[in-house]
Amino acid sequence: MSTPTLSIRPGHPSLLELPWETPLEDWDDPHLVDLPTGLHRHVVRFVAFGDDIYAVKELPRRLARHEYRTLRALEHRVGPVGQAVGLVDRGWVTPDREFSAAVITRYVKFTFTYRELISGGNFGPRRRQMLDAVAGLLVELHLAGCYWGDCSLSNLLYRYDAGAIQAVMIDAETSELHDELSTGQRQHDLDIMVVNLAGGMADIAAEQGLDLDDADLTLGEDVAEVYRALWAELTETVVIGVDEGFRVRQQVERLNDLGFEVGDIELLPYADGPGRRLKLSVSVGGRTFHSTRLHDLTGIEAAEAQARQILSDLQYYEAVGDRTSATGKSVRAIRWRVEVFEPLLNRIAEAAPGVDAVQRYCDFLHHRYLMAATAGMDIPNEVAFTAWIDQGMPGIDPVDQTTVEV
Ligand SMILES: Nc1ncnc2c1ncn2[C@@H]1O[C@H](COP(=O)(O)OP(=O)(O)O)[C@@H](O)[C@H]1O
Ligand SMILES: [Mg+2]
Repeated sequence: MSTPTLSIRPGHPSLLELPWETPLEDWDDPHLVDLPTGLHRHVVRFVAFGDDIYAVKELPRRLARHEYRTLRALEHRVGPVGQAVGLVDRGWVTPDREFSAAVITRYVKFTFTYRELISGGNFGPRRRQMLDAVAGLLVELHLAGCYWGDCSLSNLLYRYDAGAIQAVMIDAETSELHDELSTGQRQHDLDIMVVNLAGGMADIAAEQGLDLDDADLTLGEDVAEVYRALWAELTETVVIGVDEGFRVRQQVERLNDLGFEVGDIELLPYADGPGRRLKLSVSVGGRTFHSTRLHDLTGIEAAEAQARQILSDLQYYEAVGDRTSATGKSVRAIRWRVEVFEPLLNRIAEAAPGVDAVQRYCDFLHHRYLMAATAGMDIPNEVAFTAWIDQGMPGIDPVDQTTVEV
Protein backbone atom coordinates (compact mmCIF):
# COMPACT_ATOMS: atom_id res chain seq x y z
CA MET A 1 0.00 0.00 0.00
CA SER A 2 1.25 3.52 -0.80
CA THR A 3 2.04 5.98 1.97
CA PRO A 4 0.78 9.58 1.86
CA THR A 5 2.96 12.58 2.68
CA LEU A 6 1.73 14.35 5.79
CA SER A 7 2.65 17.90 6.75
CA ILE A 8 1.22 18.53 10.20
CA ARG A 9 1.95 21.62 12.27
CA PRO A 10 3.43 20.98 15.70
CA GLY A 11 0.97 20.31 18.50
CA HIS A 12 -1.41 17.92 16.71
CA PRO A 13 0.25 14.51 17.02
CA SER A 14 -3.05 12.58 17.13
CA LEU A 15 -3.64 13.40 13.48
CA LEU A 16 -0.84 11.01 12.54
CA GLU A 17 -2.97 8.07 13.75
CA LEU A 18 -5.66 8.49 11.12
CA PRO A 19 -5.96 6.13 8.11
CA TRP A 20 -4.73 8.67 5.54
CA GLU A 21 -4.02 6.04 2.88
CA THR A 22 -7.80 5.45 2.54
CA PRO A 23 -10.21 7.93 0.86
CA LEU A 24 -12.10 9.91 3.50
CA GLU A 25 -15.47 8.62 2.36
CA ASP A 26 -14.45 5.05 3.21
CA TRP A 27 -13.20 5.84 6.72
CA ASP A 28 -14.68 3.92 9.57
CA ASP A 29 -12.57 5.43 12.31
CA PRO A 30 -13.74 5.72 15.94
CA HIS A 31 -12.59 9.36 16.00
CA LEU A 32 -15.10 10.43 13.33
CA VAL A 33 -17.89 12.69 14.62
CA ASP A 34 -20.96 14.09 12.91
CA LEU A 35 -21.32 17.85 13.07
CA PRO A 36 -23.53 20.25 11.12
CA THR A 37 -22.06 21.76 7.94
CA GLY A 38 -23.03 24.30 5.32
CA LEU A 39 -23.42 23.26 1.67
CA HIS A 40 -20.21 21.98 0.14
CA ARG A 41 -18.67 20.46 -2.96
CA HIS A 42 -15.91 18.33 -1.49
CA VAL A 43 -15.98 15.51 1.03
CA VAL A 44 -15.71 17.07 4.51
CA ARG A 45 -15.61 15.01 7.72
CA PHE A 46 -14.78 15.79 11.32
CA VAL A 47 -12.53 13.93 13.74
CA ALA A 48 -12.34 14.44 17.50
CA PHE A 49 -9.53 13.66 19.94
CA GLY A 50 -10.93 14.77 23.28
CA ASP A 51 -11.53 18.50 23.03
CA ASP A 52 -9.48 18.84 19.87
CA ILE A 53 -11.71 18.62 16.84
CA TYR A 54 -10.63 18.93 13.23
CA ALA A 55 -12.33 19.29 9.85
CA VAL A 56 -10.78 17.25 7.04
CA LYS A 57 -11.56 18.22 3.46
CA GLU A 58 -10.45 16.23 0.43
CA LEU A 59 -9.75 18.05 -2.81
CA PRO A 60 -7.45 17.93 -5.84
CA ARG A 61 -3.78 18.47 -5.03
CA ARG A 62 -3.30 21.92 -6.55
CA LEU A 63 -6.39 23.29 -4.81
CA ALA A 64 -5.45 21.69 -1.51
CA ARG A 65 -1.98 23.19 -1.55
CA HIS A 66 -3.36 26.56 -2.51
CA GLU A 67 -5.97 26.53 0.24
CA TYR A 68 -3.49 25.37 2.87
CA ARG A 69 -0.98 28.07 1.97
CA THR A 70 -3.61 30.79 1.76
CA LEU A 71 -5.18 29.98 5.12
CA ARG A 72 -1.77 29.93 6.76
CA ALA A 73 -0.79 33.25 5.24
CA LEU A 74 -4.11 34.81 6.26
CA GLU A 75 -3.75 33.74 9.87
CA HIS A 76 -1.35 36.60 10.53
CA ARG A 77 -3.04 39.13 8.31
CA VAL A 78 -6.69 39.06 9.39
CA GLY A 79 -8.57 38.07 12.51
CA PRO A 80 -11.18 35.40 12.08
CA VAL A 81 -10.13 32.73 9.59
CA GLY A 82 -10.05 28.97 9.98
CA GLN A 83 -6.67 27.67 11.09
CA ALA A 84 -5.08 25.15 8.73
CA VAL A 85 -3.02 22.58 10.64
CA GLY A 86 -2.20 19.96 8.06
CA LEU A 87 -1.87 18.99 4.43
CA VAL A 88 -2.10 15.40 3.21
CA ASP A 89 -0.75 14.47 -0.20
CA ARG A 90 -1.50 11.05 -1.71
CA GLY A 91 1.33 11.20 -4.21
CA TRP A 92 0.28 8.05 -6.05
CA VAL A 93 -3.16 9.43 -6.98
CA THR A 94 -3.44 11.53 -10.16
CA PRO A 95 -3.52 15.20 -9.06
CA ASP A 96 -6.95 16.03 -10.47
CA ARG A 97 -8.71 13.33 -8.43
CA GLU A 98 -10.76 14.58 -5.52
CA PHE A 99 -8.94 12.38 -3.05
CA SER A 100 -5.41 13.17 -4.20
CA ALA A 101 -4.99 15.53 -1.24
CA ALA A 102 -6.68 16.84 1.90
CA VAL A 103 -6.55 19.95 4.06
CA ILE A 104 -6.99 19.66 7.81
CA THR A 105 -8.33 22.67 9.70
CA ARG A 106 -9.00 23.10 13.38
CA TYR A 107 -12.71 22.97 14.10
CA VAL A 108 -13.75 26.51 14.92
CA LYS A 109 -15.20 26.23 18.42
CA PHE A 110 -18.48 27.77 19.52
CA THR A 111 -19.50 28.62 15.99
CA PHE A 112 -22.70 27.80 14.20
CA THR A 113 -23.64 27.53 10.55
CA TYR A 114 -25.90 29.97 8.73
CA ARG A 115 -28.76 27.53 8.97
CA GLU A 116 -28.74 27.77 12.74
CA LEU A 117 -28.42 31.55 12.50
CA ILE A 118 -31.10 32.21 9.93
CA SER A 119 -33.56 29.37 9.89
CA GLY A 120 -34.76 29.77 13.48
CA GLY A 121 -37.56 32.19 12.55
CA ASN A 122 -35.97 34.84 14.73
CA PHE A 123 -33.70 36.22 12.07
CA GLY A 124 -35.08 39.75 12.39
CA PRO A 125 -32.95 40.97 15.31
CA ARG A 126 -29.92 39.12 14.04
CA ARG A 127 -30.04 40.44 10.50
CA ARG A 128 -28.31 43.70 11.37
CA GLN A 129 -25.63 41.83 13.35
CA MET A 130 -25.06 39.60 10.37
CA LEU A 131 -24.68 42.54 7.96
CA ASP A 132 -22.04 44.03 10.24
CA ALA A 133 -20.28 40.71 10.65
CA VAL A 134 -19.98 39.83 6.97
CA ALA A 135 -19.20 43.40 5.88
CA GLY A 136 -16.58 43.73 8.64
CA LEU A 137 -14.85 40.51 7.65
CA LEU A 138 -14.75 41.48 3.97
CA VAL A 139 -13.26 44.86 4.87
CA GLU A 140 -10.58 43.14 6.96
CA LEU A 141 -9.77 40.73 4.14
CA HIS A 142 -9.60 43.48 1.54
CA LEU A 143 -7.42 45.70 3.69
CA ALA A 144 -5.06 42.74 3.98
CA GLY A 145 -4.99 42.31 0.18
CA CYS A 146 -7.13 39.18 0.11
CA TYR A 147 -9.63 38.72 -2.69
CA TRP A 148 -11.97 35.97 -1.50
CA GLY A 149 -13.74 35.03 -4.71
CA ASP A 150 -16.43 32.96 -2.97
CA CYS A 151 -17.98 34.71 0.01
CA SER A 152 -21.14 32.72 0.67
CA LEU A 153 -23.34 31.72 3.61
CA SER A 154 -21.75 28.25 3.64
CA ASN A 155 -18.18 29.48 3.54
CA LEU A 156 -18.64 31.40 6.74
CA LEU A 157 -19.18 30.33 10.30
CA TYR A 158 -20.74 32.57 12.92
CA ARG A 159 -19.86 33.09 16.54
CA TYR A 160 -21.23 35.28 19.34
CA ASP A 161 -18.95 38.16 20.18
CA ALA A 162 -20.44 39.92 23.22
CA GLY A 163 -23.55 41.67 21.80
CA ALA A 164 -22.39 41.23 18.21
CA ILE A 165 -21.79 38.34 15.84
CA GLN A 166 -18.41 37.58 14.36
CA ALA A 167 -18.13 35.92 10.96
CA VAL A 168 -15.26 33.47 10.42
CA MET A 169 -13.92 32.62 6.95
CA ILE A 170 -13.35 28.90 6.44
CA ASP A 171 -13.15 28.19 2.72
CA ALA A 172 -10.20 29.86 0.97
CA GLU A 173 -10.07 27.64 -2.11
CA THR A 174 -10.68 30.54 -4.52
CA SER A 175 -8.83 33.23 -2.57
CA GLU A 176 -5.93 35.26 -3.92
CA LEU A 177 -3.44 37.27 -1.92
CA HIS A 178 -2.13 40.52 -3.35
CA ASP A 179 -0.14 43.43 -1.95
CA GLU A 180 -3.19 45.60 -2.41
CA LEU A 181 -6.57 45.16 -4.09
CA SER A 182 -7.83 47.45 -6.84
CA THR A 183 -11.30 49.00 -6.59
CA GLY A 184 -12.33 46.64 -9.40
CA GLN A 185 -11.18 43.56 -7.49
CA ARG A 186 -13.02 44.65 -4.37
CA GLN A 187 -16.16 45.36 -6.37
CA HIS A 188 -15.94 41.99 -8.05
CA ASP A 189 -15.65 40.26 -4.68
CA LEU A 190 -18.73 42.15 -3.48
CA ASP A 191 -20.66 41.19 -6.63
CA ILE A 192 -19.91 37.51 -5.99
CA MET A 193 -21.01 37.85 -2.37
CA VAL A 194 -24.29 39.56 -3.38
CA VAL A 195 -25.18 36.75 -5.81
CA ASN A 196 -24.12 34.00 -3.39
CA LEU A 197 -26.10 35.43 -0.48
CA ALA A 198 -29.22 35.89 -2.63
CA GLY A 199 -28.86 32.27 -3.78
CA GLY A 200 -28.45 31.07 -0.21
CA MET A 201 -31.50 32.99 0.98
CA ALA A 202 -33.56 31.67 -1.95
CA ASP A 203 -32.61 28.11 -0.93
CA ILE A 204 -33.63 28.76 2.65
CA ALA A 205 -36.98 30.22 1.56
CA ALA A 206 -37.59 27.15 -0.61
CA GLU A 207 -36.76 24.84 2.31
CA GLN A 208 -39.22 26.72 4.49
CA GLY A 209 -41.91 26.48 1.79
CA LEU A 210 -41.90 30.25 1.27
CA ASP A 211 -42.50 32.01 -2.01
CA LEU A 212 -39.38 33.44 -3.69
CA ASP A 213 -40.95 36.90 -3.33
CA ASP A 214 -40.74 36.46 0.43
CA ALA A 215 -37.08 35.43 0.40
CA ASP A 216 -34.55 37.91 1.81
CA LEU A 217 -32.84 38.37 -1.56
CA THR A 218 -31.37 41.78 -0.73
CA LEU A 219 -29.27 40.55 2.20
CA GLY A 220 -26.06 40.68 0.14
CA GLU A 221 -26.80 44.15 -1.22
CA ASP A 222 -27.31 45.36 2.33
CA VAL A 223 -23.99 43.78 3.34
CA ALA A 224 -22.35 45.65 0.44
CA GLU A 225 -23.82 48.92 1.66
CA VAL A 226 -22.49 48.42 5.20
CA TYR A 227 -19.15 47.40 3.67
CA ARG A 228 -18.93 50.61 1.60
CA ALA A 229 -19.70 52.81 4.58
CA LEU A 230 -17.05 51.08 6.69
CA TRP A 231 -14.48 51.13 3.89
CA ALA A 232 -15.03 54.87 3.40
CA GLU A 233 -14.70 55.45 7.12
CA LEU A 234 -11.39 53.65 7.23
CA THR A 235 -9.81 55.05 4.11
CA GLU A 236 -11.16 58.59 3.71
CA THR A 237 -8.93 61.58 4.29
CA VAL A 238 -10.08 64.30 6.68
CA VAL A 239 -9.13 67.94 6.30
CA ILE A 240 -7.85 69.46 9.54
CA GLY A 241 -7.17 73.14 10.17
CA VAL A 242 -3.77 74.57 11.00
CA ASP A 243 -4.53 74.73 14.73
CA GLU A 244 -6.49 71.49 14.92
CA GLY A 245 -3.72 69.05 15.74
CA PHE A 246 -5.94 67.48 18.44
CA ARG A 247 -8.12 66.03 15.69
CA VAL A 248 -5.35 63.60 14.80
CA ARG A 249 -5.91 61.91 18.14
CA GLN A 250 -9.67 62.00 17.68
CA GLN A 251 -9.38 60.28 14.34
CA VAL A 252 -7.03 57.62 15.72
CA GLU A 253 -9.49 56.92 18.55
CA ARG A 254 -12.35 56.69 16.06
CA LEU A 255 -10.58 53.87 14.22
CA ASN A 256 -9.58 52.20 17.50
CA ASP A 257 -13.25 52.24 18.51
CA LEU A 258 -13.99 50.29 15.36
CA GLY A 259 -11.36 47.79 16.47
CA PHE A 260 -8.59 48.82 14.10
CA GLU A 261 -5.03 49.58 15.04
CA VAL A 262 -3.55 52.59 13.21
CA GLY A 263 -0.29 51.92 11.36
CA ASP A 264 0.69 55.17 9.66
CA ILE A 265 -0.45 58.73 10.16
CA GLU A 266 0.16 60.92 7.13
CA LEU A 267 -0.37 64.64 6.86
CA LEU A 268 -0.66 65.64 3.22
CA PRO A 269 -0.92 69.05 1.57
CA TYR A 270 -4.42 70.42 1.07
CA ALA A 271 -4.76 72.29 -2.20
CA ASP A 272 -7.97 74.20 -1.50
CA GLY A 273 -6.92 76.30 1.49
CA PRO A 274 -4.95 76.30 4.73
CA GLY A 275 -4.79 73.10 6.72
CA ARG A 276 -3.65 69.60 5.86
CA ARG A 277 -5.25 66.41 4.74
CA LEU A 278 -5.00 63.69 7.35
CA LYS A 279 -4.77 60.13 6.12
CA LEU A 280 -4.60 57.23 8.53
CA SER A 281 -3.76 53.75 7.43
CA VAL A 282 -4.96 50.77 9.30
CA SER A 283 -2.34 48.20 10.24
CA VAL A 284 -2.69 44.75 8.87
CA GLY A 285 -3.83 42.25 11.48
CA GLY A 286 -7.59 42.71 11.50
CA ARG A 287 -9.91 44.19 14.08
CA THR A 288 -7.94 43.36 17.19
CA PHE A 289 -7.43 46.68 18.97
CA HIS A 290 -9.24 45.71 22.19
CA SER A 291 -8.39 42.02 22.11
CA THR A 292 -4.68 42.87 21.84
CA ARG A 293 -4.96 45.37 24.73
CA LEU A 294 -6.75 42.84 26.92
CA HIS A 295 -4.26 40.13 26.09
CA ASP A 296 -1.25 42.36 26.79
CA LEU A 297 -2.69 43.44 30.11
CA THR A 298 -4.08 40.17 31.44
CA GLY A 299 -3.21 37.30 29.09
CA ILE A 300 -6.93 36.68 28.48
CA GLU A 301 -7.90 35.56 24.96
CA ALA A 302 -11.20 37.00 23.75
CA ALA A 303 -12.80 38.15 20.51
CA GLU A 304 -12.81 41.88 19.75
CA ALA A 305 -16.22 42.93 21.11
CA GLN A 306 -15.87 40.59 24.09
CA ALA A 307 -12.48 42.14 24.88
CA ARG A 308 -13.93 45.61 24.69
CA GLN A 309 -16.61 44.72 27.21
CA ILE A 310 -14.21 42.89 29.53
CA LEU A 311 -11.81 45.85 29.46
CA SER A 312 -14.60 48.13 30.64
CA ASP A 313 -15.31 45.67 33.47
CA LEU A 314 -11.67 45.94 34.45
CA GLN A 315 -11.90 49.74 34.41
CA TYR A 316 -15.01 49.52 36.58
CA TYR A 317 -13.16 47.29 39.05
CA GLU A 318 -10.34 49.82 39.16
CA ALA A 319 -12.75 52.70 39.60
CA VAL A 320 -14.67 51.19 42.52
CA GLY A 321 -11.71 49.33 44.04
CA ASP A 322 -9.22 50.35 46.69
CA ARG A 323 -7.51 53.34 45.14
CA THR A 324 -5.13 53.85 48.01
CA SER A 325 -3.00 50.84 47.12
CA ALA A 326 0.14 51.84 45.34
CA THR A 327 0.09 49.09 42.75
CA GLY A 328 0.47 49.89 39.07
CA LYS A 329 -2.06 49.27 36.34
CA SER A 330 -0.63 45.94 35.26
CA VAL A 331 -0.60 44.56 38.82
CA ARG A 332 -4.21 45.67 39.33
CA ALA A 333 -5.13 43.96 36.07
CA ILE A 334 -3.62 40.70 37.28
CA ARG A 335 -5.38 41.02 40.66
CA TRP A 336 -8.68 41.51 38.85
CA ARG A 337 -7.98 38.46 36.72
CA VAL A 338 -7.16 36.26 39.69
CA GLU A 339 -9.75 37.62 42.14
CA VAL A 340 -12.69 38.40 39.89
CA PHE A 341 -12.50 37.05 36.38
CA GLU A 342 -11.13 33.53 36.83
CA PRO A 343 -13.31 32.53 39.80
CA LEU A 344 -16.42 33.60 37.89
CA LEU A 345 -15.24 31.84 34.75
CA ASN A 346 -14.79 28.66 36.78
CA ARG A 347 -18.28 28.98 38.23
CA ILE A 348 -19.70 29.43 34.72
CA ALA A 349 -17.87 26.31 33.53
CA GLU A 350 -19.26 24.38 36.52
CA ALA A 351 -22.82 25.60 35.97
CA ALA A 352 -22.78 24.91 32.22
CA PRO A 353 -19.91 22.66 31.14
CA GLY A 354 -18.76 23.00 27.53
CA VAL A 355 -20.12 26.50 26.88
CA ASP A 356 -18.10 29.43 25.62
CA ALA A 357 -17.26 30.73 29.10
CA VAL A 358 -15.82 34.09 27.98
CA GLN A 359 -18.99 34.83 26.01
CA ARG A 360 -21.08 33.85 29.03
CA TYR A 361 -19.01 36.20 31.17
CA CYS A 362 -20.02 38.99 28.77
CA ASP A 363 -23.64 37.88 29.13
CA PHE A 364 -23.26 38.18 32.90
CA LEU A 365 -21.74 41.69 32.59
CA HIS A 366 -24.71 42.71 30.51
CA HIS A 367 -27.10 41.28 33.10
CA ARG A 368 -25.31 43.11 35.90
CA TYR A 369 -25.58 46.31 33.90
CA LEU A 370 -29.35 45.81 33.38
CA MET A 371 -29.84 45.15 37.10
CA ALA A 372 -27.87 48.27 38.02
CA ALA A 373 -29.73 50.41 35.49
CA THR A 374 -33.08 49.19 36.89
CA ALA A 375 -32.02 49.72 40.50
CA GLY A 376 -30.29 53.01 39.76
CA MET A 377 -27.22 51.86 41.69
CA ASP A 378 -24.23 49.51 41.38
CA ILE A 379 -24.98 45.86 42.11
CA PRO A 380 -22.20 43.82 43.77
CA ASN A 381 -20.80 41.05 41.60
CA GLU A 382 -21.92 38.26 43.93
CA VAL A 383 -25.55 39.44 44.00
CA ALA A 384 -25.66 39.96 40.24
CA PHE A 385 -23.96 36.65 39.48
CA THR A 386 -26.31 34.61 41.68
CA ALA A 387 -29.33 36.34 40.14
CA TRP A 388 -28.01 35.67 36.64
CA ILE A 389 -27.45 31.97 37.35
CA ASP A 390 -30.89 31.68 39.02
CA GLN A 391 -32.50 33.16 35.93
CA GLY A 392 -30.90 30.54 33.69
CA MET A 393 -27.87 32.59 32.51
CA PRO A 394 -29.75 34.79 30.01
CA GLY A 395 -27.69 35.97 27.00
CA ILE A 396 -27.12 39.46 25.61
CA ASP A 397 -28.67 38.41 22.35
CA PRO A 398 -32.43 38.80 22.21
CA VAL A 399 -32.63 35.36 20.67
CA ASP A 400 -31.75 32.19 22.57
CA GLN A 401 -28.06 31.38 22.45
CA THR A 402 -27.57 28.07 20.80
CA THR A 403 -23.99 26.97 20.26
CA VAL A 404 -22.65 23.75 18.89
CA GLU A 405 -21.56 21.94 22.00
CA VAL A 406 -19.56 18.84 21.40
N1 LIG B 1 -12.63 24.31 10.41
C1 LIG B 1 -13.95 24.13 10.38
N2 LIG B 1 -14.69 24.29 11.51
C2 LIG B 1 -16.03 24.13 11.50
N3 LIG B 1 -16.73 23.77 10.41
C3 LIG B 1 -16.05 23.59 9.26
C4 LIG B 1 -14.65 23.77 9.17
N4 LIG B 1 -14.25 23.52 7.90
C5 LIG B 1 -15.38 23.22 7.21
N5 LIG B 1 -16.47 23.25 8.01
C6 LIG B 1 -17.86 22.98 7.64
O1 LIG B 1 -17.85 22.24 6.44
C7 LIG B 1 -18.52 22.94 5.41
C8 LIG B 1 -17.77 22.77 4.10
O2 LIG B 1 -16.45 23.26 4.18
P1 LIG B 1 -15.81 24.04 2.95
O3 LIG B 1 -14.38 24.29 3.28
O4 LIG B 1 -16.64 25.22 2.59
O5 LIG B 1 -15.91 22.93 1.79
P2 LIG B 1 -16.16 23.10 0.22
O6 LIG B 1 -14.86 23.61 -0.34
O7 LIG B 1 -16.50 21.76 -0.25
O8 LIG B 1 -17.24 24.12 0.02
C9 LIG B 1 -18.62 24.37 5.86
O9 LIG B 1 -19.81 24.98 5.39
C10 LIG B 1 -18.61 24.26 7.36
O10 LIG B 1 -19.94 24.12 7.86
MG1 LIG C 1 -17.32 25.92 0.78
